[in-house]
Amino acid sequence: MPTFTFSTQSPASVKADVVVLPVYEGPEPGPGVRDVKGLDLIALYRAAGYKGKRGETLLVPNTGIDGLAASAVVLAGVGKRGEASPDACRRAIGRVARQVSRRARVATTIAQIAPRAFDEAVQATAEGILLGSYRFDRYKSKSDGDRSALKEVIVLGGARADARAAKAALERGQVIAESQSWARDLVNTPALDLPPAELAREAQAMAKRMGLKSKVWTEAELKKGGFGGILGVGQGSSRPPRLIELAYDSGGRGAPIALTGKGIAFDSGGLSIKPSEGMEHMKMDMGGAASILATMRAIALLKPRANVIAAIPSSENMPSGSAIRPGDVLKHRGGKTSEVLNTDAEGRLVLADSLAYLAEKKPRVIIDTATLTGACMVALGEEVWGAMGNDRGLIRDILAAGDAAGEPGWELPMYEPYRKLIDSDVADIKNIGKRYGGAITAAMFLREFVGDIPWVHLDIAGPAFAERTGDYWPRGATGVPVRTLVRYVLNEAGSRRR
Ligand code: BES
Ligand code: ZN
Ligand code: MN
Repeated sequence: MPTFTFSTQSPASVKADVVVLPVYEGPEPGPGVRDVKGLDLIALYRAAGYKGKRGETLLVPNTGIDGLAASAVVLAGVGKRGEASPDACRRAIGRVARQVSRRARVATTIAQIAPRAFDEAVQATAEGILLGSYRFDRYKSKSDGDRSALKEVIVLGGARADARAAKAALERGQVIAESQSWARDLVNTPALDLPPAELAREAQAMAKRMGLKSKVWTEAELKKGGFGGILGVGQGSSRPPRLIELAYDSGGRGAPIALTGKGIAFDSGGLSIKPSEGMEHMKMDMGGAASILATMRAIALLKPRANVIAAIPSSENMPSGSAIRPGDVLKHRGGKTSEVLNTDAEGRLVLADSLAYLAEKKPRVIIDTATLTGACMVALGEEVWGAMGNDRGLIRDILAAGDAAGEPGWELPMYEPYRKLIDSDVADIKNIGKRYGGAITAAMFLREFVGDIPWVHLDIAGPAFAERTGDYWPRGATGVPVRTLVRYVLNEAGSRRR
């Protein structure tokens, strides 16, 4: 992993292999472009046919450019000057990250496009270069020569910048992006190699390194504890389920923030089996779990003044002679029962147990995140998560955290007349409603298990996994919503008494 440094040097004199300089739409020079005096970079950029739109990047090798120390300049379009924001930094540096990470020392002035939110822009720049240069090549037997050689990233600020604040922002960005990259690794790992027990081992190894408390519940312990949802979903698989508990202790008193995430190692649908086309994507069905593990990692390193606990259910949903059948009734932690009418609506069954378990601990809030419904993807598309909950203030805070982190969510309504769609004839509740409104009835199912604790559910079925390359993510796992969750916790630590 590269080191990040903050500097107020001129981009012309900074010793680097490559300097990334922003160009606004026009094209117009962004901060630092005019500092390179030996060559009219904007004229060159315009001659290449570029206007400064995001993604229009030009590499200019230093073939003896007067007064330029770096070996090359990359001119990166950042879009309209008036739309410059921390997210524009994340996206613009993310776009060139793969290219420039073939060099060891990279400097950039890009954070200076958003001077009124400079610390945020510095953090977003660190996130953008790390997330944008992310690769998942563990399963390639030969390197394709596209390895990152990045050793140092130098973020350049103006002479009046607050260097201490900028350094703290760089550290935050690095910790968050490295954690998010770990979430991506876990999600991209084939299900063959990441059964529930292995996910639990990864979690415990991380907890040990980071100084978090941890406990993993085995199948026998889950039985004693009455976790019928986690066990029921997992019983069709030869690879037994787990519940992963982690705790971050800030040293202060006060009720913790409680987190949980759906950890389905592989979702075949069970006996209500999915069509084979696209089934390979269902290794991502532990994306919620991975994002909670990564959030705990980041929290352990950033040490906010707020206690945080996590309980993550992990099962594998497989069809077999020992699998649960449509019509079966499961008894969840705490005693509520659910009728399983579709074994492919399994996420809510495992989360019911972890939510009930967390509610017993009387946390100040519960947040869950899950690749829960195709219906949410239909509603909000591939880049926006859905938020549903029982507490207006909490929903507002998590949406604000998502917006600020560049991981936007949108609220769907808990429209009460839909609650009857999950009434069961034989049990307390059934696990499917109608096809329409499927994201909402799934959230209503979860709501039954949180009691009166303020709770919000993030349906990340769309944004957890990208079918196309984006500005700072390749195809595959995105690690959403790690940045949102970490920011929420940091905000809480900053704004409330313990
Ligand atoms: N894991 C899926 C949801 C999903 C689908 C996530 C596509 C990411 C991409 C979930 O367990 C599921 O199968 N949901 C069903 C629920 C239905 C049976 C009520 C769905 O959305 O079709
Ligand atoms: Zn699922
Ligand atoms: Mn399913």
